[in-house]
Amino acid sequence: MKTDLPPGFLERLQAMVPARSVLISEEDRIRYGRDETEDLCHPPQVVVIPGNTHQVSAVVKLCAAYGVPITPIGARTGLSGGALSIQGGVGLSMERMNAIVDIDERNLQVTVEPGVITQVLQEAVSAKGLYYPPDPGSRGSCSIGGNLAENAGGPHAVKYGVTRDFVLNLEVVLAGGEVIWTGANTLKNATGYDLTRLIVGSEGTLGIITKAVLRLVPLPKETRLMLVPFRDPQKACEAVSAVFRAGITPSALEFMERDAIDWTLRFVEGVNIPIAEDTAAHLLVEVDGNHGDELMRDCEAILGVMEQYDCGEVLFAETSAEKDKLWMMRRLVGEAVKHNSVYKEEDTVVPRYRLPDLLAKVKEVGNRYGFKSVCYGHAGDGNLHVNIIKGELPDTVWKQDLPKAIREIFEFTVSVGGTLSGEHGIGLVQRPYMDIAFDPVQLGLMRGIKEAFDPKGIMNPGKVLP
Ligand code: LAC
Ligand code: ZN
Repeated sequence: MKTDLPPGFLERLQAMVPARSVLISEEDRIRYGRDETEDLCHPPQVVVIPGNTHQVSAVVKLCAAYGVPITPIGARTGLSGGALSIQGGVGLSMERMNAIVDIDERNLQVTVEPGVITQVLQEAVSAKGLYYPPDPGSRGSCSIGGNLAENAGGPHAVKYGVTRDFVLNLEVVLAGGEVIWTGANTLKNATGYDLTRLIVGSEGTLGIITKAVLRLVPLPKETRLMLVPFRDPQKACEAVSAVFRAGITPSALEFMERDAIDWTLRFVEGVNIPIAEDTAAHLLVEVDGNHGDELMRDCEAILGVMEQYDCGEVLFAETSAEKDKLWMMRRLVGEAVKHNSVYKEEDTVVPRYRLPDLLAKVKEVGNRYGFKSVCYGHAGDGNLHVNIIKGELPDTVWKQDLPKAIREIFEFTVSVGGTLSGEHGIGLVQRPYMDIAFDPVQLGLMRGIKEAFDPKGIMNPGKVLP
C-alpha cells in the first residue's frame, strides 16, 4: 500500500477542508479501496469527503499542483473497479454531497448532487407522481454519481433507456479545478459537441461530476409482473426478441438461469417460489402503463408469444407484496452468486436477436475450458451478465485460462455487433480487452480526448483506456 504523498501535500489538504473530511487511517483507506468488484482492494493514500463543489475544485487544484492522482468514489457498488485508487493518491468520496437540490415539477426535471442514493431519488420523485427509471440491481445502495460515471442501466432500461438517456446537464470539476456546466437544461440541444454524453460513462477519467440535472417522466400508474419458466434456456432467449416483434415493449424483460434463481432462494431466507423440476430458466416480464385492462391484454399477447417457445406454467404476481418478492429475488442474484464462490463477472451485450447465440457461445467456451457459468441479466437489452464460477478450479487454471476464455467470449460479442460492457463499465477489470472492441485509430481518438481534458493524467489514472 502506497503511503508516501509529496511533502507538504497533506498539510495543505487538511487546511482546505474540515478535519472530518480527511481520513488517513489504514482501516479507512482499505474500506475506501474496495467496491463490489471481485475481492480487489486498491486503497487511496488519503480519503477526502468534500461537502461542496468549491471544496472539490480546491482539492483538484491541489492535486494538479502536486501531480497527485485523484479517483472519485461513489457508493462503492461498482462491478468493474472504476472507483478503485489503483495509483494511490486521493480517493474523493462524494457521499456527503447527497442533496436533492430541486425537483422541478413544471419541467419534469430534478437537480441532484452525486451522492444521492438512486432509490432515495426514485422515492422522492415518485411522491410527486414522477419517475426516474434507471435502476441498477444495487439501487438501494448505489449513488447517482456512480450511476453517471458508469452509465448504469438496470431492468427498466429496456423501455426507458439507461442513465445517459436521462441526463440533461452536468456540473463538472475539470482536471485544472475549473467548474463548468456541460450543456443546457433542455430536452433538445443541437449546440456544439455533446460534452454531457461524453462525461456520462467516462468513469471519472475526464472530470468529477458535482451536480446533475436529470429528466423525469410521469410515474406509470400500474404494473403487471409475471415469471415465465422454460425447459430450455435457449428457447427462453429466443422468445425475447419475438416479444418486441409482436409489437410490445415490456418495462422489464429479465433472464435468469435455473442456478441464478436456486442460488438466490438459498441466499435469501424465508422466500419461497414454486419452481417445477424441469425448469431450466425463467423470464421475468413486467409491463407498465396507466390502464390495467390494456396491460392485461399485453400480458396475454406476451404469453401467446412465450407459448411458441415451450414455456411452462406462468406465475402471475397478484399483489404488490408478490411483485416485491419477485423483484427482490431478481435484484439479489448478483450478491447470491458472489456469496457462493469466487467468480468473475462479465457484462456482455449483443443486439437483442443474437442473445440465444451469445448464451450458446458462453456455454460452449465454458465446456471447452472447464468453467461453469451462471448467467442472468437484461435479456430485453441483449445484456447478459455472465458469472464464471471458480468453484474447485485450481488457481493456476483460473489465472491462466480464464482471460483466454473471456477473450473468446468478447470476440464473439463484437463479431455479432455487440460489445464488452452494457452497463458495468470498463474500469480496471475490462481494460485488457479494449483492443477487441476498438482498433488503434479509435483508441487514439479516445486518448486524444483524455489528453484534452486531463493533460497531466491525474484523473482516475489507469482506467478505461488500455
Ligand atoms: C444486476 C446487476 C449485477 O443486473 O447489474 O443485478
Ligand atoms: Zn444488471
